[in-house]
Amino acid sequence: MAEDIIRVRGNKTLAGEVKISGAKNSALKLLAAAILGQGPSVIHNVPLISDIKVMSEVLDCLGAHIERDGHTIRIDTSDVDKYEAPYELVSKMRASISVLGPLLGRFGRAHVAMPGGCQIGARKIDMHLKGLEALGVEFKVAHGYLQAVAADGLHGAEVMLDFPSVGATENLLMASVVAEGETIIENAAREPEIVDLANMLNAMGAQVTGAGTSSIRVEGVPLSSLHPCEHTTVGDRIEAGTFLVGGALTGGPLTVRGVNPSYLHMAIIKLRAMGCTVEAGDDWIRVERTGSLQPVDIQTLPHPGFPTDLQAQFMLLAALAQGTSVITENVFENRFMFASELMRMGADITIEEHHALVRGVDHLEGAPVTSTDLRAGAALVLAGIVADGETLVRRIRHIDRGYENYVGKLNSLGADAERMRIDMDDDEE
Ligand code: EPZ
Repeated sequence: MAEDIIRVRGNKTLAGEVKISGAKNSALKLLAAAILGQGPSVIHNVPLISDIKVMSEVLDCLGAHIERDGHTIRIDTSDVDKYEAPYELVSKMRASISVLGPLLGRFGRAHVAMPGGCQIGARKIDMHLKGLEALGVEFKVAHGYLQAVAADGLHGAEVMLDFPSVGATENLLMASVVAEGETIIENAAREPEIVDLANMLNAMGAQVTGAGTSSIRVEGVPLSSLHPCEHTTVGDRIEAGTFLVGGALTGGPLTVRGVNPSYLHMAIIKLRAMGCTVEAGDDWIRVERTGSLQPVDIQTLPHPGFPTDLQAQFMLLAALAQGTSVITENVFENRFMFASELMRMGADITIEEHHALVRGVDHLEGAPVTSTDLRAGAALVLAGIVADGETLVRRIRHIDRGYENYVGKLNSLGADAERMRIDMDDDEE
Protein backbone atom coordinates (compact mmCIF):
# COMPACT_ATOMS: atom_id res chain seq x y z
CA MET A 1 0.00 0.00 0.00
CA ALA A 2 1.43 3.40 -0.93
CA GLU A 3 1.52 6.21 1.61
CA ASP A 4 2.54 9.86 1.40
CA ILE A 5 5.24 10.90 3.82
CA ILE A 6 7.28 14.07 4.33
CA ARG A 7 11.08 13.81 4.16
CA VAL A 8 12.86 16.62 6.00
CA ARG A 9 16.57 17.46 5.97
CA GLY A 10 17.83 18.99 9.20
CA ASN A 11 19.94 21.90 10.45
CA LYS A 12 17.99 24.50 8.52
CA THR A 13 16.90 28.00 9.60
CA LEU A 14 13.36 29.23 8.99
CA ALA A 15 13.39 32.94 8.17
CA GLY A 16 11.33 35.37 6.10
CA GLU A 17 7.59 36.01 5.85
CA VAL A 18 4.68 33.59 5.40
CA LYS A 19 1.00 34.33 4.69
CA ILE A 20 -1.30 32.62 7.14
CA SER A 21 -4.46 30.92 5.81
CA GLY A 22 -7.97 31.32 7.16
CA ALA A 23 -8.78 29.52 10.41
CA LYS A 24 -9.76 25.86 9.95
CA ASN A 25 -11.62 25.90 13.27
CA SER A 26 -13.72 28.83 12.16
CA ALA A 27 -14.31 28.12 8.46
CA LEU A 28 -15.75 24.65 9.19
CA LYS A 29 -18.47 26.21 11.36
CA LEU A 30 -19.08 29.17 9.04
CA LEU A 31 -19.93 26.66 6.29
CA ALA A 32 -22.34 24.87 8.63
CA ALA A 33 -23.92 28.18 9.70
CA ALA A 34 -24.70 28.94 6.04
CA ILE A 35 -27.52 26.36 6.35
CA LEU A 36 -29.46 29.02 8.27
CA GLY A 37 -29.06 31.57 5.46
CA GLN A 38 -31.37 29.59 3.10
CA GLY A 39 -29.61 31.03 0.05
CA PRO A 40 -26.18 31.76 -1.49
CA SER A 41 -23.63 32.88 1.12
CA VAL A 42 -20.04 33.69 0.17
CA ILE A 43 -17.18 32.90 2.56
CA HIS A 44 -13.69 34.25 1.87
CA ASN A 45 -10.25 33.23 3.21
CA VAL A 46 -11.25 29.57 3.49
CA PRO A 47 -8.13 27.37 3.79
CA LEU A 48 -7.46 24.72 1.13
CA ILE A 49 -7.37 21.74 3.51
CA SER A 50 -8.99 18.31 3.53
CA ASP A 51 -11.31 19.03 6.48
CA ILE A 52 -12.98 21.77 4.43
CA LYS A 53 -13.40 19.24 1.60
CA VAL A 54 -15.13 16.83 3.99
CA MET A 55 -17.43 19.53 5.40
CA SER A 56 -18.30 20.51 1.82
CA GLU A 57 -19.21 16.86 1.13
CA VAL A 58 -21.45 16.81 4.22
CA LEU A 59 -23.25 19.98 3.12
CA ASP A 60 -23.51 18.72 -0.46
CA CYS A 61 -25.10 15.57 0.93
CA LEU A 62 -27.71 17.73 2.69
CA GLY A 63 -28.57 19.44 -0.60
CA ALA A 64 -26.33 22.51 -0.58
CA HIS A 65 -24.63 23.69 -3.80
CA ILE A 66 -20.97 24.54 -3.25
CA GLU A 67 -18.59 26.27 -5.65
CA ARG A 68 -14.96 26.90 -4.73
CA ASP A 69 -12.87 29.63 -6.34
CA GLY A 70 -9.45 29.64 -4.68
CA HIS A 71 -9.96 30.65 -1.06
CA THR A 72 -13.58 31.71 -1.62
CA ILE A 73 -16.50 29.33 -1.24
CA ARG A 74 -19.99 30.13 -2.51
CA ILE A 75 -22.48 27.95 -0.68
CA ASP A 76 -26.14 28.06 -1.74
CA THR A 77 -28.30 26.35 0.86
CA SER A 78 -31.67 27.18 -0.77
CA ASP A 79 -32.22 23.53 -1.69
CA VAL A 80 -31.01 21.96 1.57
CA ASP A 81 -33.86 19.55 2.23
CA LYS A 82 -32.21 16.78 4.24
CA TYR A 83 -31.30 16.76 7.87
CA GLU A 84 -29.22 13.58 8.08
CA ALA A 85 -25.40 13.76 8.21
CA PRO A 86 -24.21 10.29 7.17
CA TYR A 87 -21.86 8.12 9.20
CA GLU A 88 -19.32 7.69 6.41
CA LEU A 89 -18.72 11.46 6.40
CA VAL A 90 -19.08 12.23 10.10
CA SER A 91 -16.65 9.38 10.90
CA LYS A 92 -14.09 11.08 8.62
CA MET A 93 -14.29 14.32 10.54
CA ARG A 94 -15.85 14.73 13.99
CA ALA A 95 -16.29 18.48 13.40
CA SER A 96 -19.27 17.47 11.24
CA ILE A 97 -21.19 17.56 14.54
CA SER A 98 -21.29 21.33 13.88
CA VAL A 99 -24.22 20.79 11.49
CA LEU A 100 -26.37 19.71 14.45
CA GLY A 101 -27.20 23.25 15.62
CA PRO A 102 -28.00 24.76 12.21
CA LEU A 103 -30.07 21.73 11.12
CA LEU A 104 -32.13 22.04 14.31
CA GLY A 105 -32.51 25.75 13.59
CA ARG A 106 -33.59 25.16 10.00
CA PHE A 107 -35.74 21.99 10.34
CA GLY A 108 -36.30 21.47 14.05
CA ARG A 109 -34.73 18.06 13.63
CA ALA A 110 -31.41 16.43 12.77
CA HIS A 111 -29.94 12.97 12.42
CA VAL A 112 -26.19 13.08 12.86
CA ALA A 113 -23.94 10.06 13.22
CA MET A 114 -22.33 9.98 16.63
CA PRO A 115 -18.81 11.40 16.15
CA GLY A 116 -16.09 9.00 17.21
CA GLY A 117 -13.29 9.85 19.54
CA CYS A 118 -9.79 10.34 18.24
CA GLN A 119 -6.20 9.92 19.31
CA ILE A 120 -6.32 12.88 21.68
CA GLY A 121 -9.40 11.94 23.60
CA ALA A 122 -12.96 10.66 23.86
CA ARG A 123 -14.29 13.94 22.46
CA LYS A 124 -17.67 13.56 24.18
CA ILE A 125 -20.65 15.71 23.20
CA ASP A 126 -22.66 15.56 26.45
CA MET A 127 -22.51 19.36 26.85
CA HIS A 128 -23.84 19.85 23.32
CA LEU A 129 -26.80 17.57 24.13
CA LYS A 130 -27.54 19.00 27.58
CA GLY A 131 -27.48 22.56 26.28
CA LEU A 132 -29.70 21.78 23.29
CA GLU A 133 -32.15 19.88 25.53
CA ALA A 134 -32.55 23.12 27.49
CA LEU A 135 -33.64 24.74 24.21
CA GLY A 136 -36.35 22.07 23.76
CA VAL A 137 -34.52 19.38 21.81
CA GLU A 138 -35.11 15.69 22.57
CA PHE A 139 -32.43 13.18 21.66
CA LYS A 140 -32.47 9.47 20.95
CA VAL A 141 -29.47 7.39 19.92
CA ALA A 142 -30.29 4.62 17.48
CA HIS A 143 -27.89 2.58 15.34
CA GLY A 144 -25.02 4.98 16.00
CA TYR A 145 -27.07 7.99 15.01
CA LEU A 146 -28.09 10.88 17.17
CA GLN A 147 -31.77 11.57 16.41
CA ALA A 148 -32.66 15.08 17.53
CA VAL A 149 -36.08 16.71 17.38
CA ALA A 150 -37.50 19.94 18.78
CA ALA A 151 -41.15 18.77 18.73
CA ASP A 152 -42.50 22.10 19.99
CA GLY A 153 -39.85 24.22 18.32
CA LEU A 154 -36.75 25.76 19.89
CA HIS A 155 -37.20 28.11 22.86
CA GLY A 156 -34.66 30.32 24.61
CA ALA A 157 -33.10 29.25 27.91
CA GLU A 158 -30.26 30.04 30.25
CA VAL A 159 -27.56 27.41 29.70
CA MET A 160 -24.55 27.03 31.99
CA LEU A 161 -21.77 24.95 30.41
CA ASP A 162 -19.79 22.70 32.78
CA PHE A 163 -16.71 23.55 30.73
CA PRO A 164 -16.23 26.30 28.09
CA SER A 165 -16.53 23.82 25.23
CA VAL A 166 -15.88 25.37 21.81
CA GLY A 167 -18.11 22.94 19.93
CA ALA A 168 -20.95 23.07 22.44
CA THR A 169 -20.88 26.90 22.44
CA GLU A 170 -21.03 26.90 18.63
CA ASN A 171 -23.90 24.42 18.34
CA LEU A 172 -25.85 26.33 20.99
CA LEU A 173 -25.22 29.59 19.17
CA MET A 174 -26.40 28.22 15.82
CA ALA A 175 -29.60 26.74 17.29
CA SER A 176 -30.47 29.62 19.66
CA VAL A 177 -30.40 32.34 16.98
CA VAL A 178 -33.86 31.14 15.83
CA ALA A 179 -35.17 29.94 19.21
CA GLU A 180 -38.26 31.68 20.59
CA GLY A 181 -37.06 34.32 23.10
CA GLU A 182 -33.74 34.94 24.78
CA THR A 183 -30.90 32.48 25.34
CA ILE A 184 -27.97 33.12 27.66
CA ILE A 185 -24.93 30.88 27.36
CA GLU A 186 -22.92 31.09 30.58
CA ASN A 187 -19.34 29.77 30.85
CA ALA A 188 -19.22 30.02 27.06
CA ALA A 189 -16.00 29.42 25.13
CA ARG A 190 -14.17 32.67 24.36
CA GLU A 191 -12.04 31.54 21.38
CA PRO A 192 -11.67 34.05 18.50
CA GLU A 193 -13.43 31.52 16.25
CA ILE A 194 -16.57 31.91 18.40
CA VAL A 195 -16.49 35.66 17.73
CA ASP A 196 -16.02 35.01 14.00
CA LEU A 197 -19.08 32.72 13.96
CA ALA A 198 -21.19 35.22 15.92
CA ASN A 199 -20.18 37.97 13.49
CA MET A 200 -21.32 35.87 10.53
CA LEU A 201 -24.61 34.94 12.25
CA ASN A 202 -25.25 38.63 12.95
CA ALA A 203 -24.46 39.45 9.30
CA MET A 204 -27.22 36.96 8.44
CA GLY A 205 -29.69 38.82 10.65
CA ALA A 206 -29.18 37.12 14.01
CA GLN A 207 -28.94 39.04 17.28
CA VAL A 208 -25.93 37.78 19.23
CA THR A 209 -24.08 39.89 21.80
CA GLY A 210 -21.22 39.09 24.15
CA ALA A 211 -19.37 36.62 21.89
CA GLY A 212 -15.76 36.42 23.07
CA THR A 213 -16.84 36.72 26.70
CA SER A 214 -18.00 33.96 29.05
CA SER A 215 -21.59 35.15 28.81
CA ILE A 216 -23.24 35.24 25.39
CA ARG A 217 -26.77 36.60 24.93
CA VAL A 218 -28.91 35.64 21.93
CA GLU A 219 -32.27 37.25 21.08
CA GLY A 220 -34.03 34.69 18.87
CA VAL A 221 -35.39 35.85 15.50
CA PRO A 222 -37.71 34.02 13.05
CA LEU A 223 -35.84 31.69 10.68
CA SER A 224 -37.49 33.55 7.77
CA SER A 225 -35.66 36.72 8.80
CA LEU A 226 -32.23 35.12 8.38
CA HIS A 227 -30.60 35.66 5.00
CA PRO A 228 -27.35 34.76 3.20
CA CYS A 229 -24.29 36.94 3.73
CA GLU A 230 -20.70 37.49 2.64
CA HIS A 231 -18.05 36.91 5.29
CA THR A 232 -14.26 36.66 5.57
CA THR A 233 -12.78 34.00 7.85
CA VAL A 234 -10.31 35.20 10.49
CA GLY A 235 -6.67 34.14 10.17
CA ASP A 236 -5.64 30.82 11.69
CA ARG A 237 -3.95 31.57 15.02
CA ILE A 238 -2.79 27.97 15.42
CA GLU A 239 -1.13 27.84 12.00
CA ALA A 240 0.46 31.20 12.83
CA GLY A 241 1.65 29.91 16.21
CA THR A 242 3.11 26.83 14.54
CA PHE A 243 5.25 28.92 12.17
CA LEU A 244 6.28 31.27 15.00
CA VAL A 245 7.58 28.23 16.87
CA GLY A 246 9.55 27.31 13.74
CA GLY A 247 11.16 30.76 13.85
CA ALA A 248 11.84 30.52 17.59
CA LEU A 249 13.30 27.04 17.15
CA THR A 250 15.78 27.92 14.40
CA GLY A 251 16.38 31.60 15.22
CA GLY A 252 14.40 33.38 12.48
CA PRO A 253 13.66 36.23 12.02
CA LEU A 254 10.30 34.90 10.87
CA THR A 255 7.13 36.93 10.25
CA VAL A 256 3.59 35.55 9.98
CA ARG A 257 1.09 37.79 8.18
CA GLY A 258 -2.71 37.63 8.11
CA VAL A 259 -3.52 37.00 11.77
CA ASN A 260 -4.65 39.23 14.63
CA PRO A 261 -1.79 39.20 17.19
CA SER A 262 -4.24 39.53 20.08
CA TYR A 263 -5.36 35.94 19.31
CA LEU A 264 -1.89 34.71 20.33
CA HIS A 265 -1.31 36.83 23.42
CA MET A 266 -0.43 33.91 25.74
CA ALA A 267 1.76 32.17 23.17
CA ILE A 268 3.68 35.43 22.61
CA ILE A 269 4.21 35.77 26.37
CA LYS A 270 5.68 32.25 26.43
CA LEU A 271 7.91 32.86 23.40
CA ARG A 272 9.34 35.93 25.13
CA ALA A 273 9.79 33.95 28.37
CA MET A 274 11.81 31.40 26.36
CA GLY A 275 14.21 34.10 25.18
CA CYS A 276 12.66 35.26 21.90
CA THR A 277 12.14 38.79 20.66
CA VAL A 278 8.55 39.17 19.44
CA GLU A 279 7.12 42.24 17.67
CA ALA A 280 3.61 42.65 16.32
CA GLY A 281 1.55 44.96 14.08
CA ASP A 282 -2.11 45.02 13.01
CA ASP A 283 -2.02 41.71 11.19
CA TRP A 284 1.51 40.39 11.59
CA ILE A 285 3.85 38.95 14.23
CA ARG A 286 7.65 38.69 13.98
CA VAL A 287 9.82 36.37 16.08
CA GLU A 288 13.62 36.18 16.39
CA ARG A 289 15.97 34.42 18.80
CA THR A 290 19.66 35.08 19.17
CA GLY A 291 20.38 33.63 22.63
CA SER A 292 19.67 30.14 23.98
CA LEU A 293 16.13 28.82 24.55
CA GLN A 294 15.03 29.13 28.17
CA PRO A 295 12.77 26.57 29.90
CA VAL A 296 9.13 27.48 30.48
CA ASP A 297 6.09 26.16 32.37
CA ILE A 298 2.84 25.90 30.38
CA GLN A 299 -0.74 25.08 31.39
CA THR A 300 -3.07 24.51 28.44
CA LEU A 301 -6.45 26.11 29.09
CA PRO A 302 -9.49 27.40 27.18
CA HIS A 303 -8.90 30.79 25.52
CA PRO A 304 -7.46 33.21 26.54
CA GLY A 305 -5.32 30.59 28.31
CA PHE A 306 -2.53 28.81 26.49
CA PRO A 307 -4.02 26.92 23.51
CA THR A 308 -3.88 23.11 23.65
CA ASP A 309 -3.40 23.18 19.86
CA LEU A 310 0.07 24.70 20.38
CA GLN A 311 1.10 22.30 23.15
CA ALA A 312 3.07 19.89 20.95
CA GLN A 313 4.86 22.74 19.17
CA PHE A 314 5.97 24.28 22.48
CA MET A 315 7.01 20.89 23.83
CA LEU A 316 9.45 20.77 20.92
CA LEU A 317 10.82 24.18 21.89
CA ALA A 318 11.12 23.05 25.52
CA ALA A 319 12.95 19.89 24.38
CA LEU A 320 15.83 22.10 23.21
CA ALA A 321 15.77 24.63 26.06
CA GLN A 322 18.57 24.97 28.58
CA GLY A 323 16.78 23.52 31.60
CA THR A 324 13.62 21.70 32.60
CA SER A 325 10.10 22.73 31.58
CA VAL A 326 6.75 21.48 32.90
CA ILE A 327 3.88 21.28 30.39
CA THR A 328 0.43 20.48 31.76
CA GLU A 329 -2.37 19.45 29.39
CA ASN A 330 -5.71 20.38 30.96
CA VAL A 331 -8.03 20.29 27.92
CA PHE A 332 -7.66 16.80 26.41
CA GLU A 333 -7.07 13.59 28.30
CA ASN A 334 -4.54 12.05 25.95
CA ARG A 335 -2.56 14.65 24.07
CA PHE A 336 1.03 13.65 24.91
CA MET A 337 1.56 10.94 22.25
CA PHE A 338 3.76 13.44 20.45
CA ALA A 339 6.27 13.14 23.31
CA SER A 340 7.02 9.49 22.53
CA GLU A 341 7.77 10.37 18.89
CA LEU A 342 10.01 13.26 19.97
CA MET A 343 11.88 10.92 22.32
CA ARG A 344 12.76 8.80 19.26
CA MET A 345 14.64 11.90 18.10
CA GLY A 346 16.55 12.22 21.39
CA ALA A 347 14.26 14.37 23.53
CA ASP A 348 14.23 13.70 27.27
CA ILE A 349 10.59 13.78 28.44
CA THR A 350 8.86 12.15 31.40
CA ILE A 351 5.06 11.94 31.41
CA GLU A 352 3.25 11.91 34.77
CA GLU A 353 -0.54 11.80 34.06
CA HIS A 354 -1.29 15.19 32.51
CA HIS A 355 2.13 16.69 33.23
CA ALA A 356 5.14 16.40 30.92
CA LEU A 357 8.56 17.03 32.44
CA VAL A 358 10.79 18.14 29.55
CA ARG A 359 14.53 18.19 30.23
CA GLY A 360 16.26 20.17 27.49
CA VAL A 361 18.89 18.49 25.35
CA ASP A 362 21.40 20.24 23.09
CA HIS A 363 20.29 18.62 19.85
CA LEU A 364 17.77 16.24 18.26
CA GLU A 365 18.55 13.53 15.72
CA GLY A 366 16.53 12.91 12.58
CA ALA A 367 14.51 9.67 12.66
CA PRO A 368 11.44 8.02 11.13
CA VAL A 369 8.44 9.29 13.13
CA THR A 370 4.63 9.08 12.93
CA SER A 371 2.02 11.83 13.30
CA THR A 372 -0.63 11.10 15.90
CA ASP A 373 -2.78 14.20 15.34
CA LEU A 374 -2.48 17.21 13.07
CA ARG A 375 -0.68 19.45 15.56
CA ALA A 376 1.79 16.71 16.55
CA GLY A 377 2.41 16.04 12.86
CA ALA A 378 3.15 19.69 12.17
CA ALA A 379 5.50 19.78 15.17
CA LEU A 380 7.34 16.63 13.99
CA VAL A 381 8.14 18.32 10.68
CA LEU A 382 9.53 21.30 12.61
CA ALA A 383 11.57 18.87 14.73
CA GLY A 384 13.03 17.41 11.53
CA ILE A 385 14.00 20.90 10.31
CA VAL A 386 16.05 21.58 13.45
CA ALA A 387 17.42 18.05 13.99
CA ASP A 388 20.73 16.60 12.76
CA GLY A 389 20.19 14.42 9.69
CA GLU A 390 17.03 13.29 7.92
CA THR A 391 13.53 12.77 9.33
CA LEU A 392 10.69 10.86 7.67
CA VAL A 393 7.24 11.88 8.96
CA ARG A 394 4.45 9.38 8.34
CA ARG A 395 0.63 9.64 8.56
CA ILE A 396 0.79 13.13 7.07
CA ARG A 397 -2.90 12.99 6.19
CA HIS A 398 -3.32 14.41 9.69
CA ILE A 399 -1.29 17.47 8.64
CA ASP A 400 -3.25 17.87 5.41
CA ARG A 401 -6.43 18.16 7.47
CA GLY A 402 -5.41 21.48 8.97
CA TYR A 403 -2.39 22.99 7.19
CA GLU A 404 -2.63 24.39 3.66
CA ASN A 405 0.55 23.77 1.63
CA TYR A 406 2.59 23.17 4.80
CA VAL A 407 5.69 21.88 2.99
CA GLY A 408 5.55 24.68 0.40
CA LYS A 409 5.27 27.36 3.06
CA LEU A 410 8.12 25.85 5.11
CA ASN A 411 10.39 25.58 2.04
CA SER A 412 9.67 29.23 1.17
CA LEU A 413 11.16 30.02 4.61
CA GLY A 414 14.32 27.97 4.08
CA ALA A 415 13.34 24.39 4.93
CA ASP A 416 14.38 21.45 2.78
CA ALA A 417 11.32 19.23 2.92
CA GLU A 418 9.47 17.22 0.33
CA ARG A 419 6.37 15.05 0.10
CA MET A 420 7.07 11.63 -1.29
CA ARG A 421 5.16 8.41 -1.79
CA ILE A 422 6.52 5.15 -0.36
CA ASP A 423 5.24 1.61 -0.37
CA MET A 424 4.25 0.33 3.05
CA ASP A 425 3.77 -3.32 3.95
CA ASP A 426 0.04 -3.83 4.32
CA ASP A 427 0.33 -4.99 7.90
CA GLU A 428 2.43 -1.98 8.90
CA GLU A 429 0.51 0.25 11.29
C1 EPZ B 1 -12.23 22.51 19.13
O1 EPZ B 1 -12.54 21.16 19.43
C2 EPZ B 1 -11.13 22.45 18.07
N1 EPZ B 1 -11.64 21.75 16.89
C3 EPZ B 1 -9.93 21.72 18.62
O2 EPZ B 1 -8.90 21.80 17.62
C4 EPZ B 1 -9.42 22.44 19.86
O3 EPZ B 1 -8.33 21.72 20.41
C5 EPZ B 1 -10.57 22.52 20.89
O4 EPZ B 1 -11.70 23.18 20.29
C6 EPZ B 1 -10.16 23.30 22.12
O5 EPZ B 1 -9.75 24.58 21.75
C7 EPZ B 1 -12.46 22.40 16.03
O6 EPZ B 1 -12.83 23.55 16.25
C8 EPZ B 1 -12.89 21.64 14.81
P1 EPZ B 1 -14.10 21.40 23.13
P2 EPZ B 1 -13.86 20.83 20.34
O7 EPZ B 1 -15.53 21.08 22.91
O8 EPZ B 1 -14.94 21.80 20.00
C9 EPZ B 1 -14.48 17.89 26.34
C10 EPZ B 1 -7.23 21.05 16.19
O9 EPZ B 1 -6.11 20.58 16.40
N2 EPZ B 1 -15.92 17.93 26.00
O10 EPZ B 1 -13.71 22.76 23.61
O11 EPZ B 1 -14.14 19.40 20.22
C11 EPZ B 1 -13.64 17.41 25.16
O12 EPZ B 1 -13.59 16.00 25.15
C12 EPZ B 1 -8.41 20.59 17.03
O13 EPZ B 1 -7.50 21.92 15.31
C13 EPZ B 1 -16.80 17.13 26.74
O14 EPZ B 1 -16.39 16.40 27.64
O15 EPZ B 1 -13.28 21.16 21.78
C14 EPZ B 1 -12.30 18.03 25.44
O16 EPZ B 1 -11.60 17.22 26.39
C15 EPZ B 1 -8.03 19.51 18.03
N3 EPZ B 1 -18.12 17.17 26.44
C16 EPZ B 1 -12.66 19.37 26.08
O17 EPZ B 1 -14.01 19.24 26.55
C17 EPZ B 1 -18.61 17.98 25.43
O18 EPZ B 1 -19.84 17.99 25.22
C18 EPZ B 1 -12.60 20.54 25.09
O19 EPZ B 1 -13.47 20.24 24.05
C19 EPZ B 1 -17.70 18.76 24.70
C20 EPZ B 1 -16.37 18.73 25.00
